[in-house]
Amino acid sequence: MAKKYETVLIEKSEGITWLIMNRPDKRNAMSPQLHLDMDDALDDLATDEETEILVLTGAGEEAFCAGQDIRLYFRGTEQDPKTRAKARRASNQWRWHRLSTFPKPTIAMVNGFCFGGGFTQVSACDFAIAADEAQFGLSEVNWGILPGGIVSWNVVQMMNFRDAMYYAMTGDTFDGKKAKEIGFVNLHFPKAKLKEETIKFAKKLQEKSPAALQYTKEAVRAVRFMNEPQAADYLNAKSDALKHNDKENSRQQGMKQFLDDKSYRPGLGHFKRQKAAAK
Ligand code: ACO
Repeated sequence: MAKKYETVLIEKSEGITWLIMNRPDKRNAMSPQLHLDMDDALDDLATDEETEILVLTGAGEEAFCAGQDIRLYFRGTEQDPKTRAKARRASNQWRWHRLSTFPKPTIAMVNGFCFGGGFTQVSACDFAIAADEAQFGLSEVNWGILPGGIVSWNVVQMMNFRDAMYYAMTGDTFDGKKAKEIGFVNLHFPKAKLKEETIKFAKKLQEKSPAALQYTKEAVRAVRFMNEPQAADYLNAKSDALKHNDKENSRQQGMKQFLDDKSYRPGLGHFKRQKAAAK
């Protein structure tokens, strides 16, 4: 049974866990309560055995996330530094730390408006898939503020520098197709097909060794900030750790299917996963 929250919905189906920002009347703007709920939900789901793939999305037809809640997160905590500090800590924790280190693959399914602080959780997910009709906006400049939290850091990593500067300084919106063109999302589909295509993509990931996926995502993230000798040494150690910790023994399975059974060719598909026996 999925845990219940005031501002977050969790739905599970066939190994895919849907983690839903659930304030559709406020376009899923992030209130202090939403930050606390998300922080707790992600902590819980990280060790949830039913969760093979995590999809983050927004409730309702209109929005993924309209950014920080201007009323509750900003104005509402102006005179209450304790609540502000708690909300800010939870906000940074779930949107970046918990999501970017989540042990299973994560997908941001951007179903509609995505503004300001909402860019961080899209950047933190391993993959992002947008509706063509989604509207993205670094609207901060139009509020007289800058893309804070870590939004500016996120966009210079995700987009090319010219686009990051352009959208941060103009606040112009862009749609799902443009988001793909500038490298902010991996895929885009018409909204009517978004969920179906996201499930298709999640199922593709479910065919691979979970340990190989986890170690790969950790490695790809870590080497970005290393030099070549550091990366070579780290990747050696990381490969050994994967070999040691893979309960499905995928490396041996792959070699057996390729060399002995001749049932698979890596260039033409993937080896058949042998799931580890349930505990
Ligand atoms: N903070 C607080 N309330 C919000 C926010 C927000 N970020 N976004 C939307 N809402 C509220 C609206 O005030 C409105 O509340 P009400 O019904 O009590 O009046 C409700 O959500 C619905 O919003 P509408 O504007 O009526 O919905 P619409 O679909 O026409 O527009 C849109 C949606 C484009 C997202 C618009 O609400 C908007 O521009 N929101 C602000 C987006 C933004 O700039 N976010 C960045 C904030 S800064 C940061 O994150 C650091």
